[in-house]
Amino acid sequence: MLEHLKPQPADKILMLMQSFREDPRTDKIDLGVGVYKDPTGLTPVMRAVKAAEKKIWESQNTKAYVGLAGDPAFLDAMIGLVLDGAVARERIGAVATPGGTGAIRQALELIRLASPEATVWLSNPTWPNHPSVIKYLGMKMAEYRYFDEATCGVDFAGMMADLQGLRAGDVVLLHGCCHNPTGANLDAAQWDEVIALLKAKGAVPMVDIAYQGFGDGLSADAAATRMVAAGMDEVLIAASCSKNFGIYRERTGILMAVARDEAQAKLAQANLAFLNRQNYSFPPDHGARVVSTILGDPVLRADWEAELEEIRGTMLGLRTQLADELRRQSNTDRFDFIAHHRGMFSRIGTTPEKVEKMRADSGIYMVSDSRMNIAGLNSDTIPIIAKAIIDAGV
Ligand code: LMR
Repeated sequence: MLEHLKPQPADKILMLMQSFREDPRTDKIDLGVGVYKDPTGLTPVMRAVKAAEKKIWESQNTKAYVGLAGDPAFLDAMIGLVLDGAVARERIGAVATPGGTGAIRQALELIRLASPEATVWLSNPTWPNHPSVIKYLGMKMAEYRYFDEATCGVDFAGMMADLQGLRAGDVVLLHGCCHNPTGANLDAAQWDEVIALLKAKGAVPMVDIAYQGFGDGLSADAAATRMVAAGMDEVLIAASCSKNFGIYRERTGILMAVARDEAQAKLAQANLAFLNRQNYSFPPDHGARVVSTILGDPVLRADWEAELEEIRGTMLGLRTQLADELRRQSNTDRFDFIAHHRGMFSRIGTTPEKVEKMRADSGIYMVSDSRMNIAGLNSDTIPIIAKAIIDAGV
C-alpha cells in the first residue's frame, strides 16, 4: 500500500526553517518562519503564561475529557477578546481547535458541508497553507489582487475589481489584521467598502486573525473583524493564540461561526462539534486553559497585555530602524513602506533570485516571495541586512 504514495509538495516556510537549521554559518540571520524572537533570538514564554501554568498545575485535579467544542470558558474569553460584544453571543457557534490552522481547516470543512460548490477567494498573495488546505479538500478556489508591487501597499482598486466576480454564496478569506505575507493592510474606509461589496454580492466573509496585538494594539487589530461581524449576517472567524500568547507548540485556536440567528448558530455549533469529533475528537486543552486563565484573571491579563505591548513596540521600533537604515544606505525613501506596514511581516517586493542571492551571499533567510519576519531583526543585524538588500539590487 505505502508504495503507492506520492511525494507531497513541501511548504516553503517549513523548508526554509530546515535549510536555516542546516546552514553551518554562525552569522546566519533567520527572517523566515513567523515566530516572535526577542533581541537575543529567544522566543520567550510570556510571564503571564508561566504564571497561568503554575496556577493550573496547582489547582488542576483531573485531565479527563472536556467537551467536543472545548472548554466553554475558553470560548467565551476568546469571543470577548476578538469580538468584544460586536455580535450577540447567541448568534455565535464556536469550537476550540488545534491552533489557527485547525480553525482554518474546520472552517473550510464547514463550508464544504454547507455549500460544496462554493468558491473560496484568497488574496494574492496569502499564507501558503491557505491554498494548500483548500486544494487538499478539493474545494474551488479563486484569487483577488491584493499587493501592489510598485508601492508595496494594498492594490485596493485591483482587489475591488476582482471581487466584482463574486457569486452569491462564495467565501472571501480576509486577513483580520497584520496581513501575512505582505504587512500591508486595508484602512477602515476600505473595510467598509469591502463589507458593502460582499453584502451586495451575497458572499460570506471568512476572517483569519492570527496576529491580534502585533499591529496597532489588541483592540485596534480586532476593529476590522468586529466591523465585518457586526455588518454581515454570516461570518466565519479563525483566530490563533499561537503568536499573541506565544504558545505556538500548544496548538491553541478557535473557530467562530457567526450566524443569522440563534437557531442557525445552534445548528452551526452542532456541526462544528461533529467536525471536531470526526477529525480529532476533543481539541487540545492545555493552551486553551492557559488563555482562559489569563483572560479571566485581571492581574494576569494586565501583565499579558503589557508584555504584548512591549513586543509590539519592539517590532515597530525595528521597522523604523530598518527603514531609516535603508534610507541612509540607499539615499532614497523607497523602503519607507517597511515602517508603515504592520504585523510580524513585510514583503519587500523582490524576486526569488534576489532573495536567494541574500541567502547565498549573506546568510539572510527570508521566504522566497521576499517576506521577512520583522522580529528576526535586531540593532546589530539591521545594517547588515540593509546592505545585503541593496547589494542584491532590490
Ligand atoms: C508563518 O506564516 O510563518 C506562520 O504562520 C507559521 C506557519 O505555520 O507557517
